[in-house]
Amino acid sequence: MSITIEKASPNDAAAIIEYLKQIGGETDNLTFGAEGLPITVEAEADYLAQLENSRNNIMLVAKDNGKIVANATLNRMPRRMSHRGDISVAVIKEYWNKGIGSQLLSRIIDFAKENSFDIIDLQVRSDNLQAIHLYKKYGFQKICRYPSFFKIGNKFIDFDFMYLPLK
Ligand SMILES: CC(C)(COP(=O)(O)OP(=O)(O)OC[C@H]1O[C@@H](n2cnc3c(N)ncnc32)[C@H](O)[C@@H]1OP(=O)(O)O)[C@@H](O)C(=O)NCCC(=O)NCCS
Repeated sequence: MSITIEKASPNDAAAIIEYLKQIGGETDNLTFGAEGLPITVEAEADYLAQLENSRNNIMLVAKDNGKIVANATLNRMPRRMSHRGDISVAVIKEYWNKGIGSQLLSRIIDFAKENSFDIIDLQVRSDNLQAIHLYKKYGFQKICRYPSFFKIGNKFIDFDFMYLPLK
């Protein structure tokens, strides 16, 4: 295993779309399943090109010998919420518990600090103990539980809202 972490580039667009299908199919923790996200390679490449010099939005990818195995994002909220950013992190199952999620989260927090975010926040399934452990390790605190945040089939799933004040 030879893991590198870098900003996603437009050249990664097709691989990211395939990666999203894989992570979507491996758990029910994300907003999508094995179908991935309804986005074309061209649209994803355009989006990643816009991020290249952004101080508001970032996508990092972790690669093992060039293959995308994890990603993390931070997106600044608009207008009167622009002191805050929302994060996501995911890792291909085969690569869990190898410290990749931690490395990505640490890099995302560094970016947020460098770019004057006051708060970063996230939503996580209340039963996703692995992710909650990771977020607490970096100082995230639970704000509240949102009942029935997801509905998958006929099953309602609660989420915890968490935040990390940076100032
Ligand atoms: C959550 C996720 C990103 C973690 O990534 P990762 O690369 O496995 O994370 P790391 O290896 O850096 O750290 C995992 C930590 O969880 C701990 N852990 C593993 N299973 C656990 C469990 N069932 N309960 C509590 N902690 C657990 C590990 O011991 C490790 O802690 P440590 O660093 O203190 O030793 C990854 O599991 C994932 O992608 N899951 C599916 C998508 C997802 O749930 N994303 C989060 C959506 S909010």
